[in-house]
Parts: sequence; structure tokens; C-alpha cells
Amino acid sequence: MPLVDDPNLLVGLERGDDAGVYKLNDDLAIIQTIDFITPIVDDPYTFGQIAAANALSDVYAMGGKPLTAMNVVCFPIQNQDISVLGEIMRGGWEKLREAEVALVGGHSIEDPELKYGLSVTGVVHPAKMVTKEGAKTGDKLILTKPLGTGIVSTAIKGGVAGEEAVAQIAASMTTLNKLASELMQEAGVHACTDITGFGLLGHACGMIEDSPVGIEIHIAAIPFFPEAKGFARMGLVPGGTQRNREFRLNMIEQAYEIGDDIWNILFDPQTSGGLLISIPGHRGEEFLQNLHRNGIKDAAIIGEVVGEPKGRIIIRE
Ligand code: CO
Ligand code: CO
Ligand code: CO
Repeated sequence: MPLVDDPNLLVGLERGDDAGVYKLNDDLAIIQTIDFITPIVDDPYTFGQIAAANALSDVYAMGGKPLTAMNVVCFPIQNQDISVLGEIMRGGWEKLREAEVALVGGHSIEDPELKYGLSVTGVVHPAKMVTKEGAKTGDKLILTKPLGTGIVSTAIKGGVAGEEAVAQIAASMTTLNKLASELMQEAGVHACTDITGFGLLGHACGMIEDSPVGIEIHIAAIPFFPEAKGFARMGLVPGGTQRNREFRLNMIEQAYEIGDDIWNILFDPQTSGGLLISIPGHRGEEFLQNLHRNGIKDAAIIGEVVGEPKGRIIIRE
């Protein structure tokens, strides 16, 4: 795509960050993002909540405050009852209300495959915007939600996930990244991105690509849903996982041998995943405790930023 030459465009296509950022004046920039998805759980109301939390997340990842949103709806009106759409939009609206975001409009089309999401507009101070770049040697890396939503939702589609597994991923995916975003800004975040379609390692690679730093990941510290490993071993893995792995494998070194089940968790495409936060090393433990105190109980320090090797990820025990 041709790049736009505009001094007020702070984050555009060339950086491929979580959202676009455009400066209005020295104190104010707008953040714009859009995300829509196909159903990932059976319950339409829950799906609406997940889609909204997922769409808002890119604003939170950039340290912004979402203000307004618009519904994006593709609906198979020929073979689904309109009440299903009503429930989806009620779920989305409830999440927006929790986030104190105003629904200001939207657009719908008929489509054989149901999709729902939102375009979201937020604001941020231009000097306080957080991007995926900026991680520094010595930083701790914190992940705020467990991995495995793609694997477990594949198991749901295959009819093998129990109620408990469904409830666990639904609770995680409907949780806003709002509080984690506010707390990371208080703690002096260096860089952040949210974990979505490229999986943990895909997004971690995006943080350090062409940068003067690398990342060490500690496998034992990574939080994932208890049943994700078993489902991964049964081959219940989303189609995108293998593509994610092939795309980034040349940036990753194994100092500790891991099996295919763990690889699949590390590259599992997440919906409404957690934030991956790079925070000054000496504040890492205190920040983690603060996340736990505030109910973000699955947050964990999963690794650190290192000076060498640059632009690469090392897997450690
Ligand atoms: Co994102
Ligand atoms: Co997005
Ligand atoms: Co119009």
C-alpha cells in the first residue's frame, strides 16, 4: 500500500502497530481501529461481549482511552433468526457501557457467514502513546491473560470441550484490557501490544523485529488454559497456528527443547487476548503484584528483554 506522507500521522501503515494514531494538536491525538470476527462461542450474547472487548483492546494496547464505537455486522438473515443478532448487539453494547464508550452508529450487510465487531475511536496524548516498539534491555515482559483461546474454541467447534473449558475462555475473552492498560501507564511502560491473531510469539516477534534488542521467553512461566495442552495434543489447533509458526520460525532459537503441543500454544491465534507489556526491570515484580491485587490474577512475568541476540527470541525453560 502507498504510504501517506503527513507529519500528523504518528502511527500509520508502515509500522503495523495495533491502531492508527493521528495528531490533532500538541496535546491530543486520535486512535482508530477496527476488528470484526466470526463466532468463537455458541452463546450470541457472550460472542457480542467478546467481539467488543476484542475491538477495544487495540486502543488499550496503545495507552489510549476509547471514546466512541460503531457496529460492523454481517448477518445471514435468510437462515438465522434476527433475535440472534439482537443478543449479539446487546452483548457488544454492554461491554461498551462497561468501558464507558458511546455507540454512535454502525453498518450491516447480509452475508452467508455471521461476523460482528466494531470500529473504535479513542484519544491519547501524543507524548504518552504506547507502541509495540521501545522495549529496552533489562525490561520484564508481562502477559496479562492465559493463552489457548484458539485451541479451546477449536475444541468447542469439534464438540469436545466441556462446560468448564468454555466458561474459562469466555471469562477471559470478555474481560476488558482497560485496567491492565491504566496500570501499565502508571508503572512506566516502555512498549505494549495485545496478543491476537499471530499468537504470543508472533506478536513478541513484532515487538523486536529490526530493533536493537531481543527477548528471552521462560516457558515454565507462561500461563495457559489448563485444557489447552490436552486439546493441542489431540490436534485441535486452529488453521492459523501453523502459518504463524512458519512465518516467524527464523527469528526463534530453542535453548530449551519444547514439543509440538507447546509450540501450538505459543503460536495459537488469540481472540481478545491479553496485553504483552514491556516494563522497566526494577518495576516488574511490583507491577505484577499490582495487577494481581487488581484482579488480573493470571498475569505473569514470562521473560525479559536482552541486548543480545538482537531481533531474536530465545526459548528457555
Ligand atoms: Co492488536
Ligand atoms: Co486489531
Ligand atoms: Co451514511
